[in-house]
Amino acid sequence: MAQFQLTVNGKSRTVDAAPDTPLLWALRDDLGLVGTKFGCGIGQCGACTVHIDGVAMRSCQMPVSQVAEGGNKVTTIEGLSENGTHPVQQAWLEHDVPQCGYCQAGQIMSAASLLELTPNPTDEDITAGMSGNICRCGTYLRIHAAVKTAAGKLS
Ligand code: FES
Ligand code: FES
Repeated sequence: MAQFQLTVNGKSRTVDAAPDTPLLWALRDDLGLVGTKFGCGIGQCGACTVHIDGVAMRSCQMPVSQVAEGGNKVTTIEGLSENGTHPVQQAWLEHDVPQCGYCQAGQIMSAASLLELTPNPTDEDITAGMSGNICRCGTYLRIHAAVKTAAGKLS
């Protein structure tokens, strides 16, 4: 075990963990940020997606020591906006996207990152950009529509 200093949602946080502990578990178990979900644990489903320096990354695949040593800024679904007012979150509400909801924090974090990097995405950009996030409830059509709506709000 060791102590690691992380910047999460704009605040400096200290985590006691083994160096190879995935960031996902530091966020959920040590910091109580349980909006980020565990799905596959092998980087395949996207449920654990957070932003590292603004870019969508799989937190189940990132050792907490690497994030601390890199001085990276971590943003979770709890830090995307203060009151759920991020344009992607608003678009999700408008399109009533979630069913069970389990995958949705990861979907929203991926969508926000996609629109940061590609503000006016084509349908192909959206399909490619969101393809790494699995939804077992099959909300893909509504996700696609919501990303388009969010792009309109951001442009
Ligand atoms: S839990 Fe990280 S990609 Fe599935
Ligand atoms: S809404 Fe249920 S897994 Fe996506």
